[in-house]
Amino acid sequence: MQKKRIGILTSGGDCPGLNAVIRGVVKAADKLHWEVIGFIDGFEGLLPPGDYRILDRPSTTHIMPMGGTIIGTTNKGHFVSKVGEGNKTMVAPEIVEKARSLLEKLRIEGLIVVGGDGSLTTALQLFEAGFPIVGVPKTIDNDLEATAMTFGFDSAVAAVVDALDRLQTTAASHKRVMVLEVMGRHAGWIALYGGLAGGANAILVPEIPFSYDKLCEVIKIRDYAGAHATLVVVAEGAVPIGGQEMYQQKSNTGESRLGGIGDVVAREIALRTGKETRTCVLGHLQRGGAPTTLDRILGTRFGVSAVQLIEDNKFGQMVSYQNYQVTGVPIADAVNRLRRVTPESQMVATARAMDICFGD
Ligand code: F6P
Repeated sequence: MQKKRIGILTSGGDCPGLNAVIRGVVKAADKLHWEVIGFIDGFEGLLPPGDYRILDRPSTTHIMPMGGTIIGTTNKGHFVSKVGEGNKTMVAPEIVEKARSLLEKLRIEGLIVVGGDGSLTTALQLFEAGFPIVGVPKTIDNDLEATAMTFGFDSAVAAVVDALDRLQTTAASHKRVMVLEVMGRHAGWIALYGGLAGGANAILVPEIPFSYDKLCEVIKIRDYAGAHATLVVVAEGAVPIGGQEMYQQKSNTGESRLGGIGDVVAREIALRTGKETRTCVLGHLQRGGAPTTLDRILGTRFGVSAVQLIEDNKFGQMVSYQNYQVTGVPIADAVNRLRRVTPESQMVATARAMDICFGD
């Protein structure tokens, strides 16, 4: 008798923990005597003749500590249905049909899509077109609704904390202000958690528009009190009151990417306080390297639970972390609704209690 076959693909920006998911899927499927096919470079691997490889125990051994994804990913191509907060578009019907014919030819009875908001939007379209899809939420930004946490976030925060620990010693030696620009798109989770754990003195997040006057007043007061070094964490999507998000120049593909606010904030601080100020843009260091313990565990739990969803025929659902349990929720509940920092939350209140300034 032929073995049951399932597929997995990783889509969108990579993040630490993807390989833990793949390993979890392969081991859980192997226990059920199912075969796993990994599609290469996200949804693009579904296009005939198909780009895929068999994933089994030997080919997925020792991949847990590896950053990135062993089956590749992309946030471009034929299946893009949404970029960032951009408008939703439909994947072209002929592309959907090509993917369908390949999955049928390969006898795929369940397809696990590991991705963030954009990729899960595509996954939902494919599910609505009749594909046996199960989702796994992934993003360092931690901004997906319907799950309390995504894997990759903790590893990104760890990179921010490590950077702040290093910036602290150079800031103290030179009595400087150091501004660290971090990722997160339109959500301030990475800045908030990283800033709190790394001992930042100010955290600027998209959800709390900031005033340069307020920020600089805090820096001057600290200086006057003898605290000559100040660490400022700026989320890439942070906005001054009445201002707008800053974007890097459009790339040749016409894509807009957030970035640049760190330098602007540093320039304003130097001008208004007279203090020597430097910027560090952490960038993709937040996305690379080995996953933290938490991301390895969450990724593994997500992988195992995704196989369970297929076994239970719960297609159209994605795994979700809630109240310390992994459960299934409709993919439709997670997409198109950004989960952002709540200014009135206990986390923000805790940060304020630690004298962290939000510039408001
Ligand atoms: O969504 C993850 C993320 O790392 C964002 O925090 C960041 O704005 C974006 O992706 C960067 O994308 P790219 O890798 O395409 O430059």
